[in-house]
Amino acid sequence: VDPALDLFAAIENLKKEKNAIVLAHYYQEPDIQDVADYIGDSLGLSQQAAKTDADIIVFAGVHFMAETAKILSPQKKVLLPDLKAGCSLADSAPPELFKKFRDKYPDHIVISYINCSAGIKALSDIICTSSNAEKIIESVPKDQPIIFAPDRNLGSYLIKKTGRDMVLWNGACMVHEIFSLEKITKLKTQHPKAKIIAHPECEPAVLAVADYIGSTTGLLKFSKKDDAQEYIVVTETGILHQMQKENPGKTFIPAPPNNACACNDCPHMKLNTLEKLYLCMEYEQPEITMEESLRIAAKKPIERMLEISE
Ligand code: 13P
Ligand code: SF4
Repeated sequence: VDPALDLFAAIENLKKEKNAIVLAHYYQEPDIQDVADYIGDSLGLSQQAAKTDADIIVFAGVHFMAETAKILSPQKKVLLPDLKAGCSLADSAPPELFKKFRDKYPDHIVISYINCSAGIKALSDIICTSSNAEKIIESVPKDQPIIFAPDRNLGSYLIKKTGRDMVLWNGACMVHEIFSLEKITKLKTQHPKAKIIAHPECEPAVLAVADYIGSTTGLLKFSKKDDAQEYIVVTETGILHQMQKENPGKTFIPAPPNNACACNDCPHMKLNTLEKLYLCMEYEQPEITMEESLRIAAKKPIERMLEISE
C-alpha cells in the first residue's frame, strides 16, 4: 500500500462504493474502532450482522465472529482482514472431542459460549454471550441438566450466579487467564479508590476481587454510570479506547498480566490492522465460506439465543 494513501478516507470510499459495513469488536486497535460503522460486544455484533442490509460485512474481529455473521447472513459476502485471527478459547474445544464428551451426558442440553467454532455451535442447543448468559440459562427449566462449553471460567462464574450445577468443558481464554491476582492486589493498594472491573472469562480468584463483572459492553456502561474516578480494567486493552473516549475525566488502568512482556493484548484480535482492513475491502478477500449443512446446523442455536435476547 502506498504510504501516502489516507487509509481512513480510502476505507470510507470503499464502504460507499461497495455498500459495505465495517463491524468491529472493542478489542480491535483504536484506528479500526474509529473507522467502524458499529463497535460492540459479541452479542451486539451478531445482532448487527443479522439485521444489516449491506452487501458486504467486513468483520474486524476474530474468526468465530465473522463465521457467526456468515451463518446469520449467508447471502452476504463476509470478509475478515486476517484469516489467521483465531481464538484460543474457540481452539480449546475441537468438535470431535466435544461430541464424545457431550455423548457421555445424553440427558443434558448444551449451552455454548459464542466463542467457539461453527462445528461446536452445530453440536449445541443454545448459544450465549457474556452479556446474556444468565438470561439464557434461566430460560432453561430448572430440572433440565446443562453442559456449558467451552469456557470453564465463565461457566464457574455462571454456576455461582445462577445456582445451576452445570457440567463444564475445560477451556479458557489465553488473555483472561494470564492476569495476575498478586499484581492486581498490589496495584489496588497503590490506587485504593480505583474500582476493579473484570470480564467473566477471568479466573475465579481474580473475579473474587472485582467490584463489577460484565461483558465488554457491560464494563463500558458501568464505567460510564459509576461515580468512581479510577478503574483497574481486567480485560483485553482494546476496550480502554472507548472508555477513555466516553469518560475523558476518568483514569483507566489496564490490569497487569503474569507474563514477562506485561502484555495483555489478544494476539488474535491484534492481527487485524487498518492496512489489512483496507486491503480486504479493496480485494474482497479473505472471505468466510462454509458448508451449507454445517451453516444450517450452527444457525439453530444462534437463532434461539437471538430470540431469547430480544
Ligand atoms: P464480549 O465482547 O462479548 O464481552 O466478549 C469478549 C471476548 O473475549 C471476545 O473475544
Ligand atoms: Fe479469544 Fe480470548 Fe482473544 Fe477473545 S480475547 S478472541 S476469547 S483469545
